[in-house]
Amino acid sequence: MVFKAILAALAVVASAHPVLENRQSQSQSLEEYIARQFNISLEGAIRNIGGANNNIVEAAGEGFVVASPSTEAPNYFFTWTRDSALTELMLIDELIFGTESVGNNSLQVLAEQYTTAQAQLQTVTNPSGALWPAGQGLGEPKFYSNGTRFNGAWGRPQNDGPALRASTFMEIAEAIFQRNPNAATIVGNVYWPLIYNDLLYVGQYWNTTSYDLWEEVNGNSFFTTTAQHRALVQGSIWAERLNRTCEPCQQAPQIACFLANNFWNETGGYILANINANQVTRSQINADPILAAMHAFDINATCDAAALQPCNSRILSSHKIWVDSFRDLYPINDNATAPAAVLVGRYSEDVYYNGNPWYITTLAAAELLYDAAAQFSKQGSVTIDETSLPFWQDIYPDAQEGTVTESVDSLVTAMTDYADGFVSLVQQYTPPNGTLNEQINKTTGEPVSAIALTWSYAAFVTAIERREGNFPPSWGANSPTANNVANMCMSSSYNATTQYSPALAAGAMNVTEECESEVIFQLLWVTGSGENTYLVGNTSILGNTLEDTDNVIQVMRTNNYTDPEPKWFVPAWVPAGVPIEYKYVLLNSTDNSYTFENVTRYAYPASCGNNTVVTTLDTGSFPGRSYDGPLVEQPDVRSEVHFR
Ligand code: NOJ
Ligand code: NOJ
Repeated sequence: MVFKAILAALAVVASAHPVLENRQSQSQSLEEYIARQFNISLEGAIRNIGGANNNIVEAAGEGFVVASPSTEAPNYFFTWTRDSALTELMLIDELIFGTESVGNNSLQVLAEQYTTAQAQLQTVTNPSGALWPAGQGLGEPKFYSNGTRFNGAWGRPQNDGPALRASTFMEIAEAIFQRNPNAATIVGNVYWPLIYNDLLYVGQYWNTTSYDLWEEVNGNSFFTTTAQHRALVQGSIWAERLNRTCEPCQQAPQIACFLANNFWNETGGYILANINANQVTRSQINADPILAAMHAFDINATCDAAALQPCNSRILSSHKIWVDSFRDLYPINDNATAPAAVLVGRYSEDVYYNGNPWYITTLAAAELLYDAAAQFSKQGSVTIDETSLPFWQDIYPDAQEGTVTESVDSLVTAMTDYADGFVSLVQQYTPPNGTLNEQINKTTGEPVSAIALTWSYAAFVTAIERREGNFPPSWGANSPTANNVANMCMSSSYNATTQYSPALAAGAMNVTEECESEVIFQLLWVTGSGENTYLVGNTSILGNTLEDTDNVIQVMRTNNYTDPEPKWFVPAWVPAGVPIEYKYVLLNSTDNSYTFENVTRYAYPASCGNNTVVTTLDTGSFPGRSYDGPLVEQPDVRSEVHFR
């Protein structure tokens, strides 16, 4: 790799920040730091993958990407679908860029192991549900690192996971085709069934709310929805390439319409991270849209593409508003003003570990600008409009509205210098051994939270590749399919129920396709902090028990819990027509004690071929605890077709 010469401006930016004992020595140039940290990061990501040579996660199953080797404070020894897909996407792009192996690990073998691991995970029944018949299990955000389900309470489902994973599989398919142009049969047989399960899920559920990438907000996230749009567009393109059809992919123009019409905050000049959300007190100024545009980045796309690109004015404005929200907020930033870069976090109201800058987000601030700069250079012009003018004036005081073709190079240089400023800050707060945690203490600059975070390493690698001018293959952001935006937005969805099936050729387990029927269990009762509600019953998804604490597995959800209506619920697919005996269980997480109800309840799932979803509405019967509020009227049945 050839690195650009260090820019004098950087020294000025860097000296505005307090000096730390453990940080990278100032004498090391940015280029030297990058060259060394690139290898540390690439290797660091791989060392967190089960089965990789020289890994530091021995307990993890082969091909499972562990979020961090940290087992406590916080325990990140799990595999998240999102982190894994983004990491494998980075690794497969490395292979496409010509890196064959890292250490003793062949990137091709790692991709194969990821594939098998994900094929298995798709079939693991979990608290979000099962693969069969309605695909709900695909929305589960994380699993133990050996691939078994995690039964604890969590923000679920998270619908970015299947979309990101589908795109990663299609990138693997791309890499296979580049090596072997005759690979259509193998890609069709091994990869398409895997990809198609995830595309079915996206087509079926894009229009429902789920938890965002930060696992906190239940709503419609811009990042999640953008990832869903990209997945379905790519899905149509690949279906054609593989001579298949993709009916769920026909939802793409509706998703584009939803994205175009609901997220832009004109007065604030930024894209909202979430809409229809349960977190109404937040500004919704967030890294979410920045990460979305990075994921949608396609070097061949124009700045007005429907899948908002890094060079889009709304994205540049969102970048400014988001970065500015941290200038004054983190003491370490010392209120540095533009064009100085600052350390940035997820969003200003963040309280996780007291709310700090993150490596991922500070690197994203840089990567987005490298992407945008590359697009402007390629297009040979920059159009500055009312929306993007404040962003440009920060880094190029002479900027004016209009289309620039003469001084494109100066604008691009200003943008790249600004981007380098963010990387310089990461350099400044990288400990000497190169380990990248999740966060950087906002006051002291010490590394905080999960150690050696896989995603931090992946974020470093992708940012540097963009800086060096290495771009992933075009995914189709400029295709007519991607730019087909429905004229009228409708809350459509594709009913994929019964079309999901285990991707056997890729190594999935053969889960039986039985006739199942959905029951939505609902319980009204007031809980305190640290209290969770579980459901047990005499069928496998409910743990096959009415008394055994070891089999309390079905955690109920609080998405609909409000003060006036304290409702816990969980949907479950159970064998059709077979009465269910069930009980609610209270878990007190302070002393880890379980209280089982002393009554057994009954539900009557619809019979095979009947289209009704049975709902229960119960009030808790826990000793000494009751809900005295009104019983909200119970809808009889939801009439949706859920059967083959
Ligand atoms: C863990 C999640 O991973 C993190 O994103 C979140 O901020 C905290 N839980 C608090 O909800
Ligand atoms: C917390 C982050 O908010 C979430 O996005 C991530 O998936 C997990 N940590 C694991 O890294």
